[in-house]
Amino acid sequence: MRYASKLHFLLIRIAKSANGDLQLHPWCQQKAIVDYCNKHKIIVEAYCPLVRNLKAHDQTLVQMSKQHGKTTAQILIRYSLQKGWVCLPKSDTPSRIEANADVYGFELSDSDMETLNRLDQGANGSIVQAVKNS
Ligand SMILES: NC(=O)c1ccc[n+]([C@@H]2O[C@H](COP(=O)([O-])OP(=O)(O)OC[C@H]3O[C@@H](n4cnc5c(N)ncnc54)[C@H](OP(=O)(O)O)[C@@H]3O)[C@@H](O)[C@H]2O)c1
Repeated sequence: MRYASKLHFLLIRIAKSANGDLQLHPWCQQKAIVDYCNKHKIIVEAYCPLVRNLKAHDQTLVQMSKQHGKTTAQILIRYSLQKGWVCLPKSDTPSRIEANADVYGFELSDSDMETLNRLDQGANGSIVQAVKNS
């Protein structure tokens, strides 16, 4: 086995024992790395799944939340869950924590998911400064 292949094998073994914590939400979907994790059965955890509430006034999101009678945060949490991501939204506010957990009585349709998928802006959708490793 060549060195690169051995390293690849080792990385997958390590990653499988943990999980990948990635910034993930409709505006930053990181498809290449998510596909890689899915292919190698690495659990994907959505970091900033609520986009820190910065998209609370996004028209697409607001319209969808009205359609479902749910908060924008609940829509984003459902989106994460239906993508198969581990979703750990953060809140210091008890009423929000309760509402954020109340996401199992409704479902986004395939069309809703597609609408949210189309919001992807790649790296431009990131709200956290990326580290450059060069
Ligand atoms: N940010 C950190 O310090 C920190 C530390 C450790 C780990 N993490 C990781 O980061 C992830 C999430 O944290 P994050 O803070 O980066 O992003 P986030 O979960 O996308 O957003 C959290 C922000 O959204 C607000 N929020 C939560 N529920 C809301 C609701 N229902 N309506 C309106 N606003 C709401 C919170 O405000 P309130 O708190 O005022 O409600 C907080 O400002 C976790 O999954 C964890 O893995 C973050």
